Amino acid sequence: MTTYLIKGARILGGEPTDLLIRDGVVAEMGSGLSAAGARVVDADGLVALPGLVDLHTHLREPGREDAETVETGSRAAALGGYTAVCAMANTSPVADTAGVVEQVWRLGREAGLVDVQPIGAVTVGLNGEQLAELGAMADSAARVRIFSDDGFCVADPRLMRRALEYVKAFDGVIAQHAEEPRLTVGAQMHEGEVAARLGMTGWPAVAEESIIARDVLLAEHVGARLHVCHVSTAGSVGILRWAKERGIRVTAEVTPHHLLLTDERATSYDPVYKVNPPLRTAADVAALRAALVEGVVDIVATDHAPHAVEDKECEWAYARPGMLGLETALSIVIDTALDQLGWDGIAQRMSRTPARIAGLTEHGLDPAVGVPANFTLVDPAARWTVEPADLASRSRNTPYAETTLPARVVATFLRGEPTVLDGKATK
Ligand code: DOR
Ligand code: ZN
Repeated sequence: MTTYLIKGARILGGEPTDLLIRDGVVAEMGSGLSAAGARVVDADGLVALPGLVDLHTHLREPGREDAETVETGSRAAALGGYTAVCAMANTSPVADTAGVVEQVWRLGREAGLVDVQPIGAVTVGLNGEQLAELGAMADSAARVRIFSDDGFCVADPRLMRRALEYVKAFDGVIAQHAEEPRLTVGAQMHEGEVAARLGMTGWPAVAEESIIARDVLLAEHVGARLHVCHVSTAGSVGILRWAKERGIRVTAEVTPHHLLLTDERATSYDPVYKVNPPLRTAADVAALRAALVEGVVDIVATDHAPHAVEDKECEWAYARPGMLGLETALSIVIDTALDQLGWDGIAQRMSRTPARIAGLTEHGLDPAVGVPANFTLVDPAARWTVEPADLASRSRNTPYAETTLPARVVATFLRGEPTVLDGKATK
């Protein structure tokens, strides 16, 4: 195993520090370190963060390897500064058995670019009717702790209650895609002024808020952990604040795109902006940013949703919802919230807290002697222009094409080995 000497990294934006990386851990820290035979990495001006952890990634394998594979998605993640991602269950076949989650977990190990932690489905085939074998997935080699039907809502309150009861036994968590399906039949975009102008069927805020309100009460009743995926409305923030003040065990995520983009984008009719939940209003964006700073929304998760060209470059109504996120997430968060969060706040929301929610004990740890060397080095002064063709993802559906963004990941280390060096993936 190569030894690495990182020279002058600013840990969480602090004073320049040298780090000696040996045998998968941070072996020494200080100034003026030297080590014979070590490979030197010049980190002058670079900020070191604990490796980012994404709680919400769609990798598309098995089933849609034309859109993304565990390997291509892992590479995109490493380039985005991630050392761990949680892979959503809406693959084909669905990740609803020990066999499928073990397969995804193994593919992640083989790719070796990030730790891929599979999420298990709550219901068989995401059908919303019958609980999947949550215990078997939890006991499998993949040790699943998060369960989600993401893409679909667990709409039946009785089933949601049973799922919460079941995972409570092993301190698991149900990650809910909050969308009351009866309120979003035929929905194409956020229900509001812009949808009215465009004549598109709307996805009302109350479809999200009514499920979150119900589910925090169910989580309180059961005493189990609930995680709310991709919170998108100001009203949801109010419900989450209320729930947290009551001591309900709920965490919530916001996506980079919901922190930046609004429903005005739909006026282009470009399906790259079609996503579920939809882009909302400027007032929602402002409320979500404030909630992330306040901590009512705990974390940023990408909802990285790669789609093949034929599923995205078509008429809006036929396009699949979702957008790429892994390679641009950190830049978007820096762009929208670094001023208020600082580097420590970004580490909290993109690494430490998601690692804790997912139970990934080797991740989300600030660089310190003896700690697993899972970290990323970021150039905060760099600017880069997003070229879809240059992305590592197998898909091209980024909403930031030709946009210039701040900050670039220069290197990422996973258990002491670089997965990214000089801004390029090492494998
Ligand atoms: O936009 C979305 N895309 N939202 C989801 O909930 C699912 C995801 C996907 O799988 O493409
Ligand atoms: Zn979702």
